[in-house]
Amino acid sequence: MVDKITVVGAGNVGATAAQGLALKELARRVVMVDIIEGVPQGKGLDQWESAPIEGFDARVVGTNSYDETAGSDLVVVTAGIARKPGMSREDLLNTNAGIVREVSENIKRTSPDAIVIMVSNPLDVMAYVCKRVTGFSRERVLGMAGVLDTARYRSFIALELDVSVEDIQALVLGGHGDTMVPLASCTTVSGVPLSQLLERQKIEALIERTRNGGAEIVGLLKTGSAYYAPAAAIVQMVEAIVRDKKRILPCSAWLQGEYGLEGLFLGVPCKLGRRGLEQVLEVELTSKERVELNRSAQAVKETMALLK
Ligand code: APR
Repeated sequence: MVDKITVVGAGNVGATAAQGLALKELARRVVMVDIIEGVPQGKGLDQWESAPIEGFDARVVGTNSYDETAGSDLVVVTAGIARKPGMSREDLLNTNAGIVREVSENIKRTSPDAIVIMVSNPLDVMAYVCKRVTGFSRERVLGMAGVLDTARYRSFIALELDVSVEDIQALVLGGHGDTMVPLASCTTVSGVPLSQLLERQKIEALIERTRNGGAEIVGLLKTGSAYYAPAAAIVQMVEAIVRDKKRILPCSAWLQGEYGLEGLFLGVPCKLGRRGLEQVLEVELTSKERVELNRSAQAVKETMALLK
């Protein structure tokens, strides 16, 4: 357990994540901060009132001021606008970049030692904005995408095979979007390569559904984007860090030559522990996967170039 975790943005993703963090007692204090008056306070109080029933002692509070977030060990950034039907994550770019800039300045001022997990979209570029504004080392700025994309992929495979989700291992790399790269060679069912259990065409269809996983939810909700699975993914990353678990999870990390790429955030296998990003693992890729990863990197760089 750490002393304080702040969640910036008390919307769907932020508030659901805050509740998850409290349920697991990952911090003594979970602070939600948002610009809307009353909403973070109301949701924080509501969550705290669930504590006697759920039996957690993490004190959840909501606020409009960064003063209460000061000295956070970890900050999760979910502030921004979410997608509506017909919008790509890139359509959110300059609105969310402005928000993330302001949020990052506040984090730097009030929690200079924090580890930041970026969730606002387009994720890989927002993580870059945060890193640039805060000047934090790459160990302390990570993006949440791969855990979510991998979870979607695993959930679809489990449905298709009618087996437990617990037995599906997979790795999805690349940017959070249409160019994500699910690694066929790393997808197994209790260690058995997926290719032995499903024909190629079926696997391709599941990969396609994973690529469009976010849009599928947006299309159904119509008024916003997914939040239960994103929040669960945030909690898993935070838990790996807080409990120093050294878990290997796909996260968006600032690359410094790994996979022949540098100067961008991209989804790669990461070791997460108490220091944040403790290692980027370089796994062997097929030539097709390498081409796809390069294409994904190119797409992220093109979005970075559109930043105003
Ligand atoms: N500071 C703090 N909070 C802010 C700011 C800001 N400058 N600007 C906006 N917010 C808050 C909004 O008031 C709102 O409560 O961010 C919250 C966003 O919540 P939702 O609209 O419910 O969006 P959500 O579904 O939670 O998605 C948030 O995460 O997954 C990504 O693409 C998604 O970028 C989006 C983000």
